[in-house]
Amino acid sequence: MQALLAASSTGVSDSAENISFPATFAFGTATSAYQIEGGWQEGGRGLSIWDAFAHAPGKVKTGETGDVAADHYHRWRSDVQLMAQMRLRYYRFSISWSRVLPNGYGAVNEEGVRFYSMLIDELIAHGIHPVVTLYHWDLPLVLQVEHDGWLSEATASAFVQYAAFCFARFGDRVKHWITLNEPAVHAVYGHARGEHAPGRRSRPNREPYVAGHHMLLAHAYTVARYRKEFATKQAGLISIALNSDWREPASESAADVLAAQRSMEFNLGWFADPLYTGDYPPSMRSRLGTRLPTFTAEQRGYIANSTDFFALQHYASMLVSARPESEPLPEGSFYADEAARYHSLPGARKNVLGWDVAPFGIYRLVKWVQRRYRPTGGIVITENGFPLREESAEEARYDLERICYLKQYLVQLARAMQEGVVVRGYFVWTLLDNFEWAEGTAARFGLLHVDFATQRRSAKGSAAFFARLSETHSFRYHAAECNATVPVNAAFSQEAMQLQLIINRTAELRAQSGRSTSASVRSAIMARASRLVTLADMQARHTAENGLFRATRSWLAKAAKMRTFDAAAADKAFGEPSTAAAEPLRRAAQDLEEEVRQIENELAGSLAGGGEIGVGEAEMAVAPMIGEDEELPGVVPGVVPAEEDATREFGRLQTAVIEVL
Ligand code: GAL
Repeated sequence: MQALLAASSTGVSDSAENISFPATFAFGTATSAYQIEGGWQEGGRGLSIWDAFAHAPGKVKTGETGDVAADHYHRWRSDVQLMAQMRLRYYRFSISWSRVLPNGYGAVNEEGVRFYSMLIDELIAHGIHPVVTLYHWDLPLVLQVEHDGWLSEATASAFVQYAAFCFARFGDRVKHWITLNEPAVHAVYGHARGEHAPGRRSRPNREPYVAGHHMLLAHAYTVARYRKEFATKQAGLISIALNSDWREPASESAADVLAAQRSMEFNLGWFADPLYTGDYPPSMRSRLGTRLPTFTAEQRGYIANSTDFFALQHYASMLVSARPESEPLPEGSFYADEAARYHSLPGARKNVLGWDVAPFGIYRLVKWVQRRYRPTGGIVITENGFPLREESAEEARYDLERICYLKQYLVQLARAMQEGVVVRGYFVWTLLDNFEWAEGTAARFGLLHVDFATQRRSAKGSAAFFARLSETHSFRYHAAECNATVPVNAAFSQEAMQLQLIINRTAELRAQSGRSTSASVRSAIMARASRLVTLADMQARHTAENGLFRATRSWLAKAAKMRTFDAAAADKAFGEPSTAAAEPLRRAAQDLEEEVRQIENELAGSLAGGGEIGVGEAEMAVAPMIGEDEELPGVVPGVVPAEEDATREFGRLQTAVIEVL
C-alpha cells in the first residue's frame, strides 16, 4: 500500500494543492454568433458565408446547418439567467455582421442592433461584462459575392465601417473588443483547405496569405479608428484573438528545433509579429518571397502596437520535425511552406476530434508569447476547452474528462504566471453545446449540455466546477486526480519484480522436472505482463501530458516490451508442464492476487467512507483491477474502462453541486 501511494519520480507532487488566481483575474465563457444564434432568416438578418457553406451538401459532416443552432436568438434571456446562476462575470460573444448590416455595408437593420443592445443590457444587469468579438468567421455573403471576401481590401474597408458602427452603438457599454477571431484558421481552413466557409482551395499557396493580409489591415485600421474616436470617451480596450497549438520539436536535433520554431512563426507569428513589429516574421518572408503580401511604411505604422492585450486561444499540441526540402510537396499544400511535418505526441491522450491533450503546451505557449512579444496589457486566454460526444444530458453530467482538462490546463497557466508571465483572464470555450463548424453538433464543448431536439439546457459537472472557480478564483488540485499515474512508477516496479520472481521460479522448476508450466500458471504470468503494459501506457500518457518526452519514450518502450509477452512466447519459454512442479507457482500467483485484493479493499473502504474524495483515489481503486478479468495474452487492457468507472464515481460526487445550479 505504502509503495503504491509513494510519490512518483516524474517530479509531480502527490499531495493536494490549492491553485489560485488573483482577485482581478477575469474568468468567463465564450461563444460565437453563427454557432449559437440560429434565427438565420429572422429579424431582418442578411445571409453570411457560413449559411451558404453549411447549406452546400457535404460541407458539414453531419449534414447540419446553423439555421437553428442552440436557438440563442430566441433564448438569450434565459441563457443570461443561466450565466448568472453560474456566477459568471465575463461573457465573450460575437456580433453577426449581417444581422446588423445585412449587406455588409450601407443599410442598417435596426432590429438586429436592438437584439445585441438588449443582450448587452441584460448581461450588465446581471453583473456580467460583455466582451464582444466583431467578426467570428460569418462574413456577410454580399461581400463574398461582390468582392471575393477577404481576398479584397474592399472587405477590410467595409469591416472598419461596420466596426465603427458597433463602437458608436454599443461602445458606451462594451469595454472589451476583439476585432477578428483566429484569422489564421479562417485564412487556412477557408482559403486553402476548403473545410470552412468560404470553402476555397484552388490557390492554397497564395489565397491564405492574401486573406490574412486583409484581415490584418482590417484590424489595424479598426483599432486606429477606435483609438482616435472612441477609446478615450468609452474607456475600452481592443485586441484580436490569435490561436496557436504548441509545437514541440520532435527531437533535439538542430533541424527539428528550428522546424518547430519556424512552425510557431508560420502559425502564430504570421499574425502576432505584425501586431508587435509591424511586419511578418523573417522566416515567412524568406520562404514565401513575393507570395507574401507587403505592408507599406504607413500600414506598418498602423499595424505595429495595435493591441491593448494579447488575446490567445489554445487547445492542443503536436510534435514538429523538419521536412526535407527534397521531399515532394503534397499538391497545393499550405503546410509545405513551413517545411515542417506534424506528429502526434507519443503517449498522449486524444480528444474526440483527434487533438492531443497536453497541458504542458499552454505553459510553453504563454512563455513563448511573453518572451517574444512582452505584450503590454498581458495575455488573456480567450478560448480553451474540451470536446466530448455526450449523447445525452445524463452522460454529460459526468464530464470528468473536461473538468480534468480545464484543471490541468489552469494548473499549467498558474505555473507560468508564478514564473512571471502576465495573464489576466481565461475564457472557456464554450458556454453551451453548439454548432461546431464542419463537425456539426457532434463535438460538444459546452459547460451546459444542449438537447438539440428540445433545446433544453442542463448543467454538466464542468459547469459546477467553473461556477465555483469563477466565484472563488481557486480550486483544489490533486496531482493524481486526473491521472492515476502518480503511484504508477512504484506499482510498476513492484509488479515487474513479482513477474520476474514467478518467471525465475518457473524456469527453475522446469529445469528440475523437464516439463513445462501449466496453463493456469502461464495465465498468471500473462496477467502480470498485461498489467505491466497498462501501467507503462498510463505512465507514458502522464509524462507526455507533462512534456517529459524522454520519460515517455522509455515508458512506451517498456510497454512495447511487455506486449511481446504473448501466449506463444510463453509456451516457448516454459515448455510442457508438470502439474506437481507447477503447484508452488500457482500458490505464488495466488498470494499475489491476494495481496492485490487487499489493496483494492483498502482503497474501496476509503471511498465508501465518503467525504471529499478526489477522483484520483477512485481511479487508484479501480486501477489495480485493470486486466484481471480481461483476456490476457496479446490484449492490451485499456485504461479506458477504469477511467469510465472513475468518471461515474466522480459524477456522483458532483451531482449534489450540479443540482444547486
Ligand atoms: C476555435 C473557434 C471556435 C470553436 C473552437 C473549437 O478555433 O474560434 O469557434 O469552434 O475553435 O473548435
